[in-house]
Amino acid sequence: MKEIKKESTIYVFDDLQELPSDVAYLMEKAMQARSRAYAPYSNFEVGAALLLDNGEIITGNNQENASYPSGLCAERTAIYYAGSQYPEAKVIRMAISASSKMTATDTPIPPCGACRQAMVEYEVKQIHDIELYFMGAKGAVAKSNSVVNLLPFVFDKTVLF
Ligand code: THU
Repeated sequence: MKEIKKESTIYVFDDLQELPSDVAYLMEKAMQARSRAYAPYSNFEVGAALLLDNGEIITGNNQENASYPSGLCAERTAIYYAGSQYPEAKVIRMAISASSKMTATDTPIPPCGACRQAMVEYEVKQIHDIELYFMGAKGAVAKSNSVVNLLPFVFDKTVLF
């Protein structure tokens, strides 16, 4: 038996002002998208904005449903739209902001596991890391240099063939 250890590192900026201006701009787009979320059941609103290597910015937000599992997270709404409209483009980075009408969201809120799995598909496909920046409604912003950094022991196409 041997131990295999993988480490994940994130970087935390104090606030939006500490971000490079182009990243702060992308996060503002995520916040604007968040304000258009459809989340009447959880009251937890999430916005995502991603930058493509062709310069396009794609945004998305969570879309809930009376049949709860039929809803979709903001990150997947955005990245599936990007994949459907710009199949050849690479995703450079994604900014994510979450807010809640029920609880404080002033610390970085990471993407859920299902979204990490969806996002890592594109990271592997494009052979280029996707930077992730994530935050609550205000306060600190966390950065991960890649999706796989948040998903060690990843399941990807290399296990299929
Ligand atoms: N949600 C997202 O949009 N992204 C995540 O990464 C986590 C959760 C949404 C799904 C649901 O509409 C609400 O937040 C509460 O889970």
